[in-house]
Amino acid sequence: MGNSFAGSLIVFEGLDGSGTTTQSGLLANYLKEKGYSVLEIEEPGGTTLGRAVRDLLLGDHGMDIKPLSELFLYEVSRAQLVREKIIPELEKGTVIISDRFAISSVAYQGHGRGIPIDEVKALNAVALDGVEPDATIFLDIDLEERDKRSSGEKPDRIEKEAREFYKRVREGYLEEIRSMDEAILINGSLPKKEISRRVISRLQSELL
Ligand SMILES: Nc1ncnc2c1ncn2[C@@H]1O[C@H](COP(=O)(O)OP(=O)(O)OP(=O)(O)O)[C@@H](O)[C@H]1O
Ligand SMILES: [Mg+2]
Repeated sequence: MGNSFAGSLIVFEGLDGSGTTTQSGLLANYLKEKGYSVLEIEEPGGTTLGRAVRDLLLGDHGMDIKPLSELFLYEVSRAQLVREKIIPELEKGTVIISDRFAISSVAYQGHGRGIPIDEVKALNAVALDGVEPDATIFLDIDLEERDKRSSGEKPDRIEKEAREFYKRVREGYLEEIRSMDEAILINGSLPKKEISRRVISRLQSELL
């Protein structure tokens, strides 16, 4: 990679509330101050089509989206993002910071919702067209920390089910992260600035 972050794809992953958006922003600010051309993207989203898909996935429209349909919607957003933004911008030497990427689907739709992991990975591979992150930063928080950052109230029946879901998602992430060369695991319960400092130092030692 040489002595520059130019042309790198850096991905933040983690449970909901783990700080992926916070840390994507802090890293983008740091790199912009260093003079890099930086593109911040998010999944689902990052393109006009992706944002329309994001509204379908995350909006409060009352549709019963089945797990496999959910996976396909993520892949639509991902396929468009890779071809419309990621490939052309990496070629220009832009540093791309993505708030979530393909292993979110392995963790959530695979481990969380129960779609076979090899099927999720096969669809990811089609959407990604060979694109691979240069670094994937996993912000690890436990379920207690996640609960603290969401409601603070005692969990009801639905939230308890959600707890089982998030437990599977976290374990899926950890399994995936352990099998990846370019993964960086950071304790997401640390203060925001300390996490950002560690992210930058790990990226410097792994990418430069
Ligand atoms: N290291 C931290 N320590 C304490 N609170 C944090 C930390 N990082 C983020 N938060 C807070 O936790 C909440 C969620 O942070 P953020 O939106 O960055 O997470 P996220 O992973 O993007 O969540 P989502 O999945 O909802 O998009 C925010 O209120 C944020 O201020
Ligand atoms: Mg976020």
